[in-house]
Amino acid sequence: MKIVVIQGPNLNMLGIREKNIYGPMKLEDIHKQMKTFAEQNRIEIEFFQSNLEGEIVDRIQECLGDADGVIINPAAYTHTSIAIRDAISAVQIPTLEVHLSNIHQREEFRHTSLIAPVCAGQIMGMGPFGYHLAMVGMTQILNEIQAMKQAQMAQQQG
Ligand code: DQA
Repeated sequence: MKIVVIQGPNLNMLGIREKNIYGPMKLEDIHKQMKTFAEQNRIEIEFFQSNLEGEIVDRIQECLGDADGVIINPAAYTHTSIAIRDAISAVQIPTLEVHLSNIHQREEFRHTSLIAPVCAGQIMGMGPFGYHLAMVGMTQILNEIQAMKQAQMAQQQG
């Protein structure tokens, strides 16, 4: 099982940027924790961060035939990017959307996610712990898919 974690613009600045909103933890430390969970659960994991919309679209497309699940924090592109939404929709890979902050408690322009309708679920307002919740959630989704496929195969075989 392979999960690809995609981080949008300015998330490379975690630990420096608006600590009152996003907290003091750096992105690399969040990724270390996710990697530990992945290793403990025998899941392959890859991380990608970009400040460019097109690069994020490319990385989502590259998941086709490669990744079983995607965890994405599209950051500011959450509220603007039809291209990222279409890429997620195109690859049809189970995707969880994560936000460190509760976007509904913030400015009105953050209340809308163009990404949410094409995701299996959304986790927000839990700070860095939200990424751990996403790992647990994605593991559950992928286990359920695997169990369903096995049941279908057993049925076909007789
Ligand atoms: C964010 C919320 C977005 O509105 C914002 O643009 C970000 C981070 C979050 O994780 O809370 O960059 O996605």
